[in-house]
Amino acid sequence: MWFILLPLIMSLQLSSLAVQILHQGSSLSVEDPNDVMLSPNAIFCGGFYAVGQNAYSFAVWFSQPNCQTRNATVVWMANRDYPVNGKGSKLSLLNNGNLALKDADESHVWSTNTVSLSSVQLFLDDTGNLVLRETKAGGVVIWQSFDFPTDTLLPQQVFTRNAKLVSSTSETNKSSGFYTFFFDNDNILRLLYDGPEVSGLYWPDPWLATWDAGRSTFNNSRVAVMDTLGNFSSSDDLSFVTSDFGTVIQRRLVLDHDGNIRVYSRRHGGEKWSTTWQAKARPCSIHGICGPNSLCSYHQNYSVKCSCLPGYQWRNDHDWSYGCEPKFSTLCNKDESRFLYISNVELYGYESGIMTNYTLRQCQDLCLQLCNCKGIQYTYVSGRGTYTCYPKLQLRNAYRTPYFNADLYLKLPANSSYSFEGSTDDHSLDCSSSSRTMQLERAYVMSHENRYVKFLLWFVGGVGAFEVLCIFVICFFVVRTRERKYSGVDRGVYHLAMTGFRKFSYSELKQATKGFREEIGRGAGGVVFKGVLLDQRVAAVKRLKDANEGEEDFLAEVSSIGRLNHMNLIEMWGYCAEGKHRLLVYEYMENGSLAQNMESDELDWTKRFDIALGTARGLAYVHGECLEWILHCDVKPQNILLDSNYHPKVADFGLSKLRNRNDTSTYSSFSRIRGTRGYMAPEWVLNQRITSKVDVYSYGIVVLEMVTGKSATKDVVDRDNGVEKQHLSMVGWLKDKKKSECGWVSEVLKPNVKGVYEEEKMEALVRVALQCVEEEKEKRPTMSQVLETLQKCSRQYDYLRSSQISVVS
Ligand SMILES: *[C@@H]1O[C@H](CO)[C@@H](O)[C@H](O)[C@H]1NC(C)=O
Ligand SMILES: *[C@@H]1O[C@H](CO)[C@@H](O)[C@H](O)[C@H]1NC(C)=O
Ligand SMILES: *[C@@H]1O[C@H](CO)[C@@H](O)[C@H](O)[C@H]1NC(C)=O
Ligand SMILES: *[C@@H]1O[C@H](CO)[C@@H](O)[C@H](O)[C@H]1NC(C)=O
Ligand SMILES: *[C@@H]1O[C@H](CO)[C@@H](O)[C@H](O)[C@H]1NC(C)=O
Ligand SMILES: *[C@@H]1O[C@H](CO)[C@@H](O)[C@H](O)[C@H]1NC(C)=O
Ligand SMILES: *[C@@H]1O[C@H](CO)[C@@H](O)[C@H](O)[C@H]1NC(C)=O
Repeated sequence: MWFILLPLIMSLQLSSLAVQILHQGSSLSVEDPNDVMLSPNAIFCGGFYAVGQNAYSFAVWFSQPNCQTRNATVVWMANRDYPVNGKGSKLSLLNNGNLALKDADESHVWSTNTVSLSSVQLFLDDTGNLVLRETKAGGVVIWQSFDFPTDTLLPQQVFTRNAKLVSSTSETNKSSGFYTFFFDNDNILRLLYDGPEVSGLYWPDPWLATWDAGRSTFNNSRVAVMDTLGNFSSSDDLSFVTSDFGTVIQRRLVLDHDGNIRVYSRRHGGEKWSTTWQAKARPCSIHGICGPNSLCSYHQNYSVKCSCLPGYQWRNDHDWSYGCEPKFSTLCNKDESRFLYISNVELYGYESGIMTNYTLRQCQDLCLQLCNCKGIQYTYVSGRGTYTCYPKLQLRNAYRTPYFNADLYLKLPANSSYSFEGSTDDHSLDCSSSSRTMQLERAYVMSHENRYVKFLLWFVGGVGAFEVLCIFVICFFVVRTRERKYSGVDRGVYHLAMTGFRKFSYSELKQATKGFREEIGRGAGGVVFKGVLLDQRVAAVKRLKDANEGEEDFLAEVSSIGRLNHMNLIEMWGYCAEGKHRLLVYEYMENGSLAQNMESDELDWTKRFDIALGTARGLAYVHGECLEWILHCDVKPQNILLDSNYHPKVADFGLSKLRNRNDTSTYSSFSRIRGTRGYMAPEWVLNQRITSKVDVYSYGIVVLEMVTGKSATKDVVDRDNGVEKQHLSMVGWLKDKKKSECGWVSEVLKPNVKGVYEEEKMEALVRVALQCVEEEKEKRPTMSQVLETLQKCSRQYDYLRSSQISVVS
């Protein structure tokens, strides 16, 4: 309830104080906290935004959770690279029609450079656009912030040939970073890394021809726009819909500081942003993410990990993007060099040539002859059965994953003992610099020689690092938990709206659950109790069994789960690790689990389909957008929870990892079968490699149970004229039916379910679910393919339905 009321209260409070329209001759002052602009719908605020100590930029941001906050979601900035002083700075709408941002010394830091003879006004419209327009009715727009985006594109904001998005330096530092999103001269939308030493395009994949990437160079209008429903389309034929396409909610498309484009959405200001689309599923293929001579790989604790190649050492211990430097001098003498083999490494670019059909010996000889050859990439070309040799002059964009058919032979001094230890050579980044707040001090001193006021910029904290890679959630997370310690009752009502991940004390949770009295669920991991937190949020508190690991390990694991953030995944609010107690705190779901609702009258056909769709979304998010090792491994109706509107959220993600830490971390070497009988893929029994397809299998079974009403663990008795014919498993029975008749779908559907269904839609659902339960995992679709199929038919029929209605009326 608070989530609904708070924004209202806030906006009422604010709108009475905020500036709706800035008239000619007036200005907004950095010192007056009431000098903020508010859009009529109260979703956006505009004003001076603190980017450091005593350093401000004029910005537009989402008003929630709090219009006055320092760390709001900023969508636009006028002067991101030249912050102004916290005293005396002003944004003024001059009488000649120019909008100017003046620093304390009256110097123009930024201006729109506009001139108008008629009277003009400035306002912030409902879409988040800051507009300078002639006051008279039907007056023309002279300038608008939508034409000059920083790193964010809002729905309905048209991205044109003149615009570009530039990433920010880091999560906390909003100044211009190294990544750019733009239309190139071939009319294609691209991502560019433009670093201090090298630059390169990395999206769409640079080795793909534009038409192979699904783009077209023919339309030179160069416009792109995302609509309010989450449909992005561009004149180069790039188009996508977000995973929550179809609802009008708050969205933003951002070029993040890690070089990835992501679309974030949330239903209202009280919610956290969740990622609903991203350009690069594998962050290691983003150029410049690790710097030279270092190897990018995926890591459990952070999303990506950079490590120096053997024989190399870090240039800057605080920042991975500086890369590594050799510990040896240049190798020019053949006899003083050797090669170190590292399997499955892809290095993009910087080779002296591409040599096809080379033997390894030929390839190595070639590299030895070149003084500046740092190593070779040796790639098997499966189509031709030959090997291709790439002698590398620079070792950049190195990326290690088992899926590459390429190996790296690194050139090293012959008498050295460097070796490659794989994942054991961990380098933990010193996070201390990023957890401290950077202070940017804007002091000004009067010069005695002349009357001009001079400004000096200096950065206290002196920690040189510019935090480019602080996506590493651990660091971020530690800061946040530290900051959030006192959130709740004593922090004023606004802070209630900010749901943050935090640490709870055992006594607090004991009190919240009234001594663990009301049990609402029980699973392999532990028992779940209902509780009410101090801030009145209703929570589900899970007490884990077998808690024998240290607090730090537990925290590391939990945070990797807490980082999963999607509207179809249960949100984790926090955890408790005290003595031998290990507890997890989740949001509470009013309608319990799908298992409890299987027979419920509430679940009509529309809801059943939407549950299948939402569950697919949640799973696809984790499989596709997060990291490969996060499998659920126990998808079943008990783990799919339903909120008050019967929207599904998948629970217990990643807990299989928490439960059994003694295993090595790779899922290919599970020592024990996980999951629940009936929902388990055959790979478990056959002892095959475990991939995300195990979740696909379980998902298929859940969907089939939900639509047929039959159980996966009990046999189906097929009757012919009342005579028992045979006992079949549910899947066997369905395949039998599918073979036999047309109109088979209506025969297999669960009887007595309310509501009407479109036969084709149900058939598509059953078909895709049957594909999911194929014995051979290669034949099963991936979760994102499932999602695509379901989304397609959901849209198609929704469209049909609405067009029928319009015909009738
Ligand atoms: C925002 O910043 C304030 C103080 O600057 C801090 O208390 C709060 O926890 C921060 N909120 C988030 C979401 O980081
Ligand atoms: C998205 O928008 C484009 C252009 O307006 C349109 O052609 C396309 O059909 C839309 N896609 C969906 C799924 O609505
Ligand atoms: C080029 O793209 C724009 C926007 O997508 C579209 O309106 C226009 O019709 C296209 N032009 C041609 C010649 O296809
Ligand atoms: C994850 O981080 C924690 C501490 O931050 C560390 O103890 C643990 O070994 C790390 N896990 C792996 C698999 O590296
Ligand atoms: C590769 O080279 C070997 C020897 O030089 C030659 O016999 C073979 O036909 C070549 N293969 C291809 C596919 O060109
Ligand atoms: C390896 O050989 C180089 C050149 O011969 C020499 O400078 C260096 O000290 C040697 N290093 C070791 C560890 O022996
Ligand atoms: C933000 O990054 C820029 C560019 O690296 C740097 O000059 C500036 O000092 C940083 N600002 C803060 C507040 O750390």
